[in-house]
Amino acid sequence: AETSNGAKIFEANCASCHIGGGNILISQKTLKKEALSKYLENYDSESIQAIIHQVQNGKNAMPAFKGKLSSEEILEVAAYVFQNAEHGW
Ligand code: HEM
Repeated sequence: AETSNGAKIFEANCASCHIGGGNILISQKTLKKEALSKYLENYDSESIQAIIHQVQNGKNAMPAFKGKLSSEEILEVAAYVFQNAEHGW
């Protein structure tokens, strides 16, 4: 199957820390549904919007991607993370 744009953006910008939907720096703060629900503010009510917020602004050891990725790229990678969180990495 063709690799989606979201997947390519993830591989190039996120996988260094979040390979396989994990987190190499803070092991419990993964990109799996249970962890997002527990640790990411507003994930249960806003989902993709909550992921977009984290990617734009970063948090602690995670860098901000605003200005580095376009808003369309951030939307695509957030949708990719959400889809994998829902269906399993
Ligand atoms: C947390 C997405 C790039 C390090 C998170 C969370 C999301 C996310 C959704 C919240 C997870 C949770 O709280 O369970 C992304 C995306 C990236 C990206 C889509 C690429 C555009 C990176 C990179 C690094 C990194 C490159 C390392 C240099 C972290 C860390 C946290 C985190 C340390 C925990 C922050 C905290 O709460 O203290 N990431 N990330 N991320 N990410 Fe990323």
